[in-house]
Amino acid sequence: AGPCDIYATGNTPCIAAHSTTRALYSAYTGALYQVKRGSDSTTTDISPLSAGGVANAAAQDTFCASTTCLITIIYDQSGRGNHLKQAPPGGFSGPEANGYDNLASAIGAPVTLNGQKAYGVFMSPGTGYSNNAASGTATGDAAEGMYAVLDGTHYNDACCFDYGNAEVSSTDTGNGHMEAIYYGNSTSWGSGAGSGPWIMADLENGLFSGSSSGNNAGDPSLSYRFVNAVIKGGPNLWAIRGGNAASGSLSTYYSGARPTASGYNPMSKEGAIILGIGGDNSNGAQGTFYEGVMTSGYPTDATENSVQANIVAAKYATTSLTSGTALTVGSSISLRATTSGYTTRYIAHTGATINTQVVSSSSTTALQQQASWTVRAGLANSACFSFESVDTPGSFIRHYNFALLLAANDGTKALHEDATFCPQTGLNGQGSSIRSWSYPTRYFRHYENLLYIASNGGVHTFDSATSFNDDVSWVISTGFA
Ligand code: AHR
Ligand code: AHR
Ligand code: AHR
Repeated sequence: AGPCDIYATGNTPCIAAHSTTRALYSAYTGALYQVKRGSDSTTTDISPLSAGGVANAAAQDTFCASTTCLITIIYDQSGRGNHLKQAPPGGFSGPEANGYDNLASAIGAPVTLNGQKAYGVFMSPGTGYSNNAASGTATGDAAEGMYAVLDGTHYNDACCFDYGNAEVSSTDTGNGHMEAIYYGNSTSWGSGAGSGPWIMADLENGLFSGSSSGNNAGDPSLSYRFVNAVIKGGPNLWAIRGGNAASGSLSTYYSGARPTASGYNPMSKEGAIILGIGGDNSNGAQGTFYEGVMTSGYPTDATENSVQANIVAAKYATTSLTSGTALTVGSSISLRATTSGYTTRYIAHTGATINTQVVSSSSTTALQQQASWTVRAGLANSACFSFESVDTPGSFIRHYNFALLLAANDGTKALHEDATFCPQTGLNGQGSSIRSWSYPTRYFRHYENLLYIASNGGVHTFDSATSFNDDVSWVISTGFA
């Protein structure tokens, strides 16, 4: 059985079922998600390998070979057509054209399920999906349940990495107009024990960690790589549950009455569905989604416990984030451009600016050092890499406003994430393309001889699709110095 078969048996059927990694019904053979590739803007659907099975990641890899791919649709497996698509502007506008949010890279969150490769949805700040015309979702004070399997190590404190029920207008229409899972370490409204991240309920104008606004010590900080986050709500009753999605059982972090602040009892749920954003399209949050559902009716704890067992049996596990030229931590490398007309240029720095410069073995020692980088384990994720300046030890290549800079490692989560990169086989067939861990749609790119993290077509000049594959492919060799 799949999770939605279990909910159906419990008389709280799924009315939305979303996953890029696997079918959530044992009989489901339809499309899981759609990807669009950068080379020709065509799309294809990715389906399970077999009924009820894991996504056919190899089909994605073939379709996306030598180009970039975005996840354009996360299909609803429930049959209600509650698909998730690029979120439109609302109270806040997204970074994409016409105020839409960004779409997620199709390769930012590789995992295995029972040893078979699949891809989750790695959502950088600015990324969001929604369906503002969903059918069968709870409205008003009606009861619903939901769970989401997330990457417990990918979060931030911005508003709001959510999955669940929200406003149909993408604007804040008042307390109680949402009921969604939140995951992160925002303390703007509520918090739990420790420093987070926490599972909270986004009920609009409030992230709730327990019976009341603010801190509720019963909601623990979580450190699981894979988290199962559960929220459910009905008339004057709601709950937060959670656990390790890779082993063990669920715990109940809160179960009880609605908040007493006005507007939350009864609720005024509107029935849209959001992923990765707040109800008003607040889009500063980050997180990774693998699978999740929403139900009609208030699921029993026993039903949710069976779903947890099903998720654990799916055996989520991490897998490699890199390919291309092998890198050795501690070694010095230099990175040469492959764009025709620029092939004598290497990634270097001039002060804090990261650029390309013509470098050779007869260049000055100073320039050779400026174009040499010590490979370090990724500061935010040791499955990827960071690049420390040979002539300025302690300073690393980071992105800031999507430009690359040389910056001292100040020990912050932001610096670590901005300085972590995951190389893959070069998009033009040469060397490596160096993907940002935190913005996996974006790669090291030279543009007018300056370095950026660029996406393949996007709102910035340096996102130009012209010459993209060449500008993001680098031949990596032993460092000059
Ligand atoms: O409830 C927290 C957030 O407040 C909601 O997600 C958003 O709509 C509002 O800004
Ligand atoms: O480079 C994009 C973002 O810009 C970085 O993650 C952040 O530090 C800065 O605001
Ligand atoms: O960085 C040099 C060139 O500048 C890039 O190849 C091109 O895309 C841009 O015009």
